Amino acid sequence: MTAYSYFALPVVVAVLVLWKLIPLLLKPLSSKLRLVPGPPCPSWLFGNLKEITNVEAAVLHEQWVAAYGHTIKYKGWLGHDILYTMDTRALNHILSHSNDYQKPAIARFSLSEVLGEGILFAEGEQHRLQRRVMNPAFGPSQIREITDIFLEKAAQLRDMWLEEISVHGDSARVDVLDGMAKMTLDVIGLAGFNYSFDALNASGKANELNKAFQELFGKATNKPSIFAMLRYLIPPLRLIPTPPTRRVDAAVRVMRRIGMELVTEKKAEVIRDMRNPNEKQDGLRSRDLLTLLIKANMAVDLDPSQRLSDEDVLSQIPTFLSAGHETTSNATTWCMYALSQARDIQEKLRTELLAVPTDTPTMDELQALPYLDAVVRETMRVYAPVPATVRVAMKDDVIPLNTAYTDINGNEHDEIEIEEGIQIDIPIVALHRSKELWGDDALEFKPDRWGSLPEAAQNIPGVWGNLMTFLGGPRSCIGYRFSLIEMKALVFILIRAFEFELAVPAKDISKQSSAVQRPFVLSEPEKGTQLPLIIKPYRGL
Ligand code: HEM
Ligand SMILES: *[C@@H]1O[C@H](CO)[C@@H](O)[C@H](O)[C@H]1NC(C)=O
Ligand SMILES: *[C@@H]1O[C@H](CO)[C@@H](O)[C@H](O)[C@H]1NC(C)=O
Repeated sequence: MTAYSYFALPVVVAVLVLWKLIPLLLKPLSSKLRLVPGPPCPSWLFGNLKEITNVEAAVLHEQWVAAYGHTIKYKGWLGHDILYTMDTRALNHILSHSNDYQKPAIARFSLSEVLGEGILFAEGEQHRLQRRVMNPAFGPSQIREITDIFLEKAAQLRDMWLEEISVHGDSARVDVLDGMAKMTLDVIGLAGFNYSFDALNASGKANELNKAFQELFGKATNKPSIFAMLRYLIPPLRLIPTPPTRRVDAAVRVMRRIGMELVTEKKAEVIRDMRNPNEKQDGLRSRDLLTLLIKANMAVDLDPSQRLSDEDVLSQIPTFLSAGHETTSNATTWCMYALSQARDIQEKLRTELLAVPTDTPTMDELQALPYLDAVVRETMRVYAPVPATVRVAMKDDVIPLNTAYTDINGNEHDEIEIEEGIQIDIPIVALHRSKELWGDDALEFKPDRWGSLPEAAQNIPGVWGNLMTFLGGPRSCIGYRFSLIEMKALVFILIRAFEFELAVPAKDISKQSSAVQRPFVLSEPEKGTQLPLIIKPYRGL
């Protein structure tokens, strides 16, 4: 760089900052949410955002809702209003009008640098096309065909733990989180694109794609960062390499190279299959999500204008990895945590599971176990891995309410008027913990509640189980069946094999709330996220 450009760069940056900043600064003054009640704002720059990231998910929101009502507002960056409502009718309106309420551009930007425009961040027509081509791959009959992968990997985890016990005597302290994370990574690799991460294989070498993936997602947080915000607002800043961006670039290159190999390979297989439909037995055909999606995308009856490009197909690989791996491992880890605290529930579940006469049940056999189902539902309620999500209004709108709200002047409103650009936080965990919806025992882990749900809870607009865990509407989780069956397979294998108890006092376990809720031990912060449990082989009396 010349001396001149050293001087010019800061000036250009300053001008760009002002040009973007002035409208941003003026906007809050005209907000239609001015009169909606809410907590005081501690910081002009960060609004209430820092307070929120400092506590366990939903705790602060619950206090606000108790103090100010069902429908409140609080402050985001630079004084911008954020709408927050626990009203199920309002949430249903927002989730079902997914074109009018889209994901915020900044979330889309920070992940699309890594993921490309996969289905997680596509919007409008582009999203509709992707979802249509991808839906069939996640249907019940497809998940039925990959249930053996879930069971096989669960058994590999069981065997790894059995080996650990054999080294130590008759019990072992294991990090359940670590085991689950390896298992779900192996599963999404095999079931997602027939790729072996071999994360569960201790003698296997550290896998190239796994390392790239850890680089991209291992350190993700949602703490507000000024640099990330500036990179978003001022595109030229994105060209300035920093050590983290260089590492990310290298990891993205690895992911692209391996992804392109997979896509090319699978396309060739689909074309071979289309030419010689009778050559292969059904049992030998690839059953992975990527192949199914490529097949649907190449189907002769699909209008060519509706097809995804290779680039779009490629971007689904990191999308599956990021959406399908940590969420499921976290959920199953919390399930083991809950069961290790409630030994009677663990025992009752084991009795049901041991009555199944096979080690390798089918999907339908797993689905037919009522107590397993209740335990999984209760885990997904109390420990929803994604604690909340965000939308932005794409146009002015009037949102209907079940329960009117009272504004700061004391006037009642049975609708919320909002303008384009307003951010809306969608509660997930907070709705699951609401005493109003679930009753006074809402905070307790009680699988038996699923025998008869309170009527209020039945209004929750979720795609699955009257829960917001997988959200609802056209943007709900496409992989929910996948993860539910994976989780059931894991619990089935592990609870039949082991007894679980906590290795540290329960009050020493806390939740770290980044994009995904993770357990960690308060007295062992240096170990990062973990869930230590003592396991013993189960030997029925
Ligand atoms: C316990 C496990 C899981 C949980 C709690 C979960 C939760 C969610 C949630 C809350 C969303 C909506 C995010 C938003 O719009 O803000 C979502 C979307 C999505 N999930 Fe999952 N998920 C899980 C497992 C999976 C798995 C196993 C896969 C794939 C193999 C997957 C793939 C996706 C995709 C592709 C989307 C975007 C769908 C769209 O926008 O059309 N998820 N998930
Ligand atoms: C584990 O990795 C080693 C070395 O890469 C390999 O030989 C072995 O077959 C793997 N075992 C399993 C169960 O995949
Ligand atoms: C993965 O590929 C192998 C060999 O090509 C095939 O036998 C197997 O069925 C495939 N697995 C899945 C899940 O598609």
